[in-house]
Amino acid sequence: MYLPTLPRTGSSATTPRSRRPIRPLHALTSYPPLRPERNSTGNAPASLPSHRRRTRRTVPAVEMIDLCKHFGTLRAVDHLSLCVEPGEIFGLLGPNGSGKTTIINMLSGLSVPTSGQVHVLGYDVRRNARQVRHLLGAVPQETALKDARVNTFSGGMKRRLAIGRALLHNPQLMYLDEPTLGVDVQARWAIWDYLLTLREQGKTVLLTTNYLEEAQALCDRLAILDHGQLIAVDTPAHLRQVYGARVIELETSTMSMAIKELRKVAGVKEVRQKGVRLKITTEGTDNLLPRLINIVSRDGPLRDITVREPTLDDIFLRLTGTSLRD
Ligand SMILES: Nc1ncnc2c1ncn2[C@@H]1O[C@H](COP(=O)(O)OP(=O)(O)OP(=O)(O)O)[C@@H](O)[C@H]1O
Ligand SMILES: [Mg+2]
Repeated sequence: MYLPTLPRTGSSATTPRSRRPIRPLHALTSYPPLRPERNSTGNAPASLPSHRRRTRRTVPAVEMIDLCKHFGTLRAVDHLSLCVEPGEIFGLLGPNGSGKTTIINMLSGLSVPTSGQVHVLGYDVRRNARQVRHLLGAVPQETALKDARVNTFSGGMKRRLAIGRALLHNPQLMYLDEPTLGVDVQARWAIWDYLLTLREQGKTVLLTTNYLEEAQALCDRLAILDHGQLIAVDTPAHLRQVYGARVIELETSTMSMAIKELRKVAGVKEVRQKGVRLKITTEGTDNLLPRLINIVSRDGPLRDITVREPTLDDIFLRLTGTSLRD
């Protein structure tokens, strides 16, 4: 059983400050040191299948083509086509049961697609299982570590251990299924920091998550999934820009009659009302708040004001018309 010693990986100064999550230094970190990449570009290895070498300049790290997985009548993954580029951190976001783990299992070769194709760094996952295993490190959703000592570890420590173990053969590509589910804040920061370090090493990271915050902190691009279908794929910045950069929630003492007027305010993207609660999605213009408060408080005094970043639930609601969590 491999247990990591606790060297610091050292956060490289090359990552732009804005991309790095803020975390206390003592949250760092308990992984084995990263070994230098054989391929400094982080692109596909030199030994690509010859048909790929000839026909493409950059081979996607992961390529899904019209991928489907059915369990009886359930379409767990429904005609999914998606590319993950080499060297990026790519996030699969979706609610429980949206098909994230099923996708990861097909990408790892653990589950056979009902139809469609999966290529990893140019290799067909089913036909070239051995090569794919060599290129790939996977941290499954349920971290099963059968060791008496490890069983006493916290969830965060088990997670970090599983990540360290998945990296032992220095894979080009990492899959992490819900890497920070059920871990405390410090372990979450340490894991984020480590994944950013992997990207600096040129590795490709594909992770699944329920947390938009996590996706925003880490991912170069995100795919939003629902019922096994791709709803949107974009950079976090563009998703936030398109689907509202800030959410203002106002609680009134009586039901507000100001909705129409609020919707006309420049910078307001959407207004929803549920009883005495108003949810206003804005483009993130800071000076909107006094104006909105002014309009709403004409009907009576406000009971509560909350200003927050949009959650995945807000974005999901806009995209699907239904709420992400129940
Ligand atoms: N082996 C299986 N047999 C039958 N149905 C399955 C099987 N595996 C998954 N499913 C169903 O497929 C759908 C997608 O499940 P999946 O585990 O991929 O979702 P998920 O997005 O990973 O969810 P979570 O966020 O809870 O991990 C669910 O409805 C699930 O019940
Ligand atoms: Mg899952």
